[in-house]
Amino acid sequence: MALSLTVNGDRRASAADPVTPLVDILREEFHLTGTKPVCREGFCGACMVLVDDRPTPSCLMPAALAEGSDIRTVEGLGTGDALTAIQVALETCDAVQCGMCFPGMVVTLTHLLATSPEATRDDIRAALSGNICRCTGYERIVDATLSALAVK
Ligand code: FES
Ligand code: FES
Repeated sequence: MALSLTVNGDRRASAADPVTPLVDILREEFHLTGTKPVCREGFCGACMVLVDDRPTPSCLMPAALAEGSDIRTVEGLGTGDALTAIQVALETCDAVQCGMCFPGMVVTLTHLLATSPEATRDDIRAALSGNICRCTGYERIVDATLSALAVK
């Protein structure tokens, strides 16, 4: 029986095995390649998506468990002239990083902005603890997030 997934507001069908990791269906069937499979063990955050508004490593989620949920990938947040507040702040603060780690960070920070309007520098660091960048610091990302919170 085909899987039925709601991704970025659209109902999508997949004939994949129900235990296929969600990240693979997003990328290989739906061509939403912003979501990255890097560690495939739940450690790096590169595959983070929102499932019913909660940041979720899509490498660990069998697709069948996502049926009935609202799945939002980085492509479903903001694009072009309609960037979200965190996307604008990250760009303005020159905090954009590589395409492997950064989409997952944007997903995590989208959730933080929506749920923690009083977040401190330490709260932001804690929120990003599941999003690993192996090559630089997080300072500009934290600064950008604080600036996005300040204009909310
Ligand atoms: S690929 Fe999913 S957490 Fe690293
Ligand atoms: S892993 Fe993306 S900038 Fe470090």
